Amino acid sequence: GRVWTTVSALTEELKDRTVLIRGRAQAIRAVGKKMAFFTVREKGYTVQCVLTVAPDIVSAQMVKYATAISKESFVDIEGVVTVPPEAIKGASQQVEVQVRKIHCVNRAAAILPINVEDAARSEVEIEKALEAGEQLVRVNQDTRLNYRILDLRTPANQAIYRVECQVANLFRQYLLNEDFIEINTPKLIAGSSEGGAAVFKLDYKKQPACLAQSPQLHKQMAICGDLGRVFIVGPVFRAEDSYTHRHLCEFTGLDIEMEIKEHYSEVMDVVDRLFVNMFDKLNERCKKELEAIGKQYPFTPLKYLRNTLRLTFEEGIQMLKEAGVEVDPLGDLNTESERTLGKLVLEKYGTEFYILHRYPLAVRPFYTMPCPDNALYSNSFDVFIRGEEIISGAQRVHIPELLEARATACGIDVKTISSYIDSFRYGAPPHGGIGVGLERVVMLFCGLDNIRKVSLFPRDPRRLEP
Ligand code: 4AD
Repeated sequence: GRVWTTVSALTEELKDRTVLIRGRAQAIRAVGKKMAFFTVREKGYTVQCVLTVAPDIVSAQMVKYATAISKESFVDIEGVVTVPPEAIKGASQQVEVQVRKIHCVNRAAAILPINVEDAARSEVEIEKALEAGEQLVRVNQDTRLNYRILDLRTPANQAIYRVECQVANLFRQYLLNEDFIEINTPKLIAGSSEGGAAVFKLDYKKQPACLAQSPQLHKQMAICGDLGRVFIVGPVFRAEDSYTHRHLCEFTGLDIEMEIKEHYSEVMDVVDRLFVNMFDKLNERCKKELEAIGKQYPFTPLKYLRNTLRLTFEEGIQMLKEAGVEVDPLGDLNTESERTLGKLVLEKYGTEFYILHRYPLAVRPFYTMPCPDNALYSNSFDVFIRGEEIISGAQRVHIPELLEARATACGIDVKTISSYIDSFRYGAPPHGGIGVGLERVVMLFCGLDNIRKVSLFPRDPRRLEP
């Protein structure tokens, strides 16, 4: 067969070489009848291709054929790589391809609901273009999501899903090296796993059932079965009522559960090593991708410390108080105060990634272990990036009588989780773990403002399609 090259690989090193590429026709511009410029895009990378009429090589008919190809059609191009004297605007590659042959492999409809070039512009570029009187349609979020397969073709989106893949990959690799094993837990379960009303109910062969809100109960049961240190990467379902920038009805959960020897800080140690390693490797391996994302959605690289900062909830409350923000010392923090605390932490400690631990017991799920020295607090924590939660974690109650009492006190019908509670009656080790929202990590690491930007086909309270 012939040798194919990718558009991203077209560099000066290939000068004078004949290459074969396949990509989409992004922009076509005829210059008279004898010449045409063609921008070809492949997986977010673009190159300028030039057709010039020349005897025995390019006919006028070929130029006519090329300029009639609709945008977003797939084309195969054979041509010679040249290096133009001046920088090329509007293409990622700084070489040109002098076309010898062009063939349209698959034609796109003449009218597109989204112009991919417009969808790829940053807010600043849009403002400039509008000021310059350019005709341009700002592509709104709903249109993007309705025609997601077109929207996904922008360089930023191409990069986002590569970063997301790396986050899950780095999570998995790190834990496998630390003696964790990956398990799968059922997503069809009998009762709610987190308490509360945010569950999707369904009929399971005439038995009431739910889509799992988390792998919480079964990952703990795996620990009761002596699997020691486990993790899960899988879908999590939440029947969220509120329509916000950070809640989805289905997202990907990265969960960990592990035995604890002495203190719940052992779980925070894992969080610390795992995430510092993850951020380091993302910055290293995804340089190009982070750049592509930043080009459309400018952001500053995440500031994090070598040893992740740990503050107690009480210390956090105190910092807020000193800044004039009064919050309930035994209540939960709302989104606003979490953001404010994030800013205060950045000012004082120079980090945008930190752990807040020893939360009030009353605001944590029923399975959370109370603090041994003060039952108003719990052995639990949340982890934040840029003032928003990405993780919640805790030591769990492994004493069946206490677990039953805690569930009842939290208004849970213990009959629906009896097999879970019974698991602790046959000897159970102290243990704890975390739940991470994959999309939240990507969104906040990249400083993006909406979780729908990092969910391939988002499911939210108003969207079940496409
Ligand atoms: O805080 P959550 O509800 O905790 C649990 O599910 C526990 N079982 C975890 C544990 O092991 N203790 O969810 C964990 C994480 C949150 O920190 C957040 O990142 C993400 O899941 N998350 C959501 N992401 C997107 N959309 C939603 N509706 C989310 N709800 C939680």
